[in-house]
Amino acid sequence: MSQIHDDYDDLAALLQQALNGSLSFHKGLADRPVAARKQDTGLPQELPSTGVGGADALTDFLARYGDRLSASAGPRFLGFVTGGTTPAALIGDWLAASVDQNSASPGDSVATAVTVQALDWLKQLFNLPAADFDGAFTTGATAANFACLLAAREWAGEQAGYNIAQKGLAGGPTIRIYSACPHASFVKVTRFLGLGQDAIVPVDRIGDTEAMDPDALDRALAAADPAEAKIVCASAGTVTTTAFDDLIAISAVCKRHNAWMHVDGAFGLFARTVPELAGRTAGVEFADSITVDGHKWLNVPYDCGFYFTRRIDLIERAAGAMPAYLDVAGGGLPHYMNRALEGSQRFRALPVWLTLAAYGADGVRQIVRNNCRQAGLLAAWVERTDGFELLAPTSLNIVCFRGVPPDGHSDPDGWNRALLSAINDTGLVYLTPGAYGGKGGIRAAFSNWMTRDDDLDAVTRALIMGRETVLTEEREDA
Ligand SMILES: Cc1ncc(COP(=O)(O)O)c(C=O)c1O
Repeated sequence: MSQIHDDYDDLAALLQQALNGSLSFHKGLADRPVAARKQDTGLPQELPSTGVGGADALTDFLARYGDRLSASAGPRFLGFVTGGTTPAALIGDWLAASVDQNSASPGDSVATAVTVQALDWLKQLFNLPAADFDGAFTTGATAANFACLLAAREWAGEQAGYNIAQKGLAGGPTIRIYSACPHASFVKVTRFLGLGQDAIVPVDRIGDTEAMDPDALDRALAAADPAEAKIVCASAGTVTTTAFDDLIAISAVCKRHNAWMHVDGAFGLFARTVPELAGRTAGVEFADSITVDGHKWLNVPYDCGFYFTRRIDLIERAAGAMPAYLDVAGGGLPHYMNRALEGSQRFRALPVWLTLAAYGADGVRQIVRNNCRQAGLLAAWVERTDGFELLAPTSLNIVCFRGVPPDGHSDPDGWNRALLSAINDTGLVYLTPGAYGGKGGIRAAFSNWMTRDDDLDAVTRALIMGRETVLTEEREDA
């Protein structure tokens, strides 16, 4: 045990060593291969019975694996929807680990009050009526979707005078979820919540877009069994084409048919921070529950998401677990453990608070604007460059495109998978797959504050190099 005490006595040196390691990682972010070339840990290692102390352990870790880390926090990681970390969010997250607060319960720390304040700032950022919504931080948008669907499920029981949290689903009402393009994580949480993914009723989309047709929703709800409890899951930004459902029309339909309206705005809700894009989210203020991610466009480190709902009481009823030993006096502050799956909770609000305090709403707006502009620039390049084509118009921060295979190629999707891997092998960029309109392709999602217009040169270079590699390999194989 003396090693722990020795380390603690030498905490300044240890923290300095971690600082140096972090600094060299960050300063090298733009130059390291975006996806690590090696990602394994090598041979299995025996658990040491005697440790080496923090300094040697850190040195060993960085020597072994430092170059096997992804540059996912860097400017050219355009896979999935991946935010980086602002400097203030980074120090906030460090501080959160240092001070090691459990913000799930009030009574001993300002952490709970800061959590309330950070959520309040987020409501202001997204221009949501503060008095109507309450919420909590989660580990991400999947967990936020989980909390929101939990609230919706409780509401469904309430409609039938039945307490699902108390009695379980078996004797409760039939619950159906109407959605046009739910995110995979929403489908996943239907399973966790015992509803099953077959509870999702697909609603027609508008033309060949990913957006829900509100008239089709209206017809589907009108035709549904009146005894069934209806939940609508709308999208504010789909991952492939960044489609936004018409939330004003959908809220009117939900009202007409007494349906719960959930909006998944994991990253798309950030459009609301920019006046010229805000209209796309109009109507979200009428939602019953809203999912948002922090570790995407807010650029706070993993893991962070949050949700808002008009019916926090339903979540507290369903998630509440207050044995005597946890029932501390909170001075009117929420017990956040009653608002999420997790009991103990990391001080997730701190990086959020710090980044919002450091850069304000303007800082967020600037990131969103830049990333959308950069996506537009890449989309324009794809459009004007032979050998590439857009699969969908780019209207926010995501470019969905593909390489055009040689004439008559038998497997264009397979060819694009090979192209994607060749592009990523350049180390200049990291892109991930996508599919739209029955065609497999590639997605580039811009959501990092650090990305600069110069980075686009490296990205387009990687696309050209990737294409040349695949064509050359094909010629050699022929
Ligand atoms: C619209 C949407 N919802 C939910 C999620 C799930 O987010 P997380 O990975 O933070 O759980 C994502 C992630 O890309 C998303 O884009």
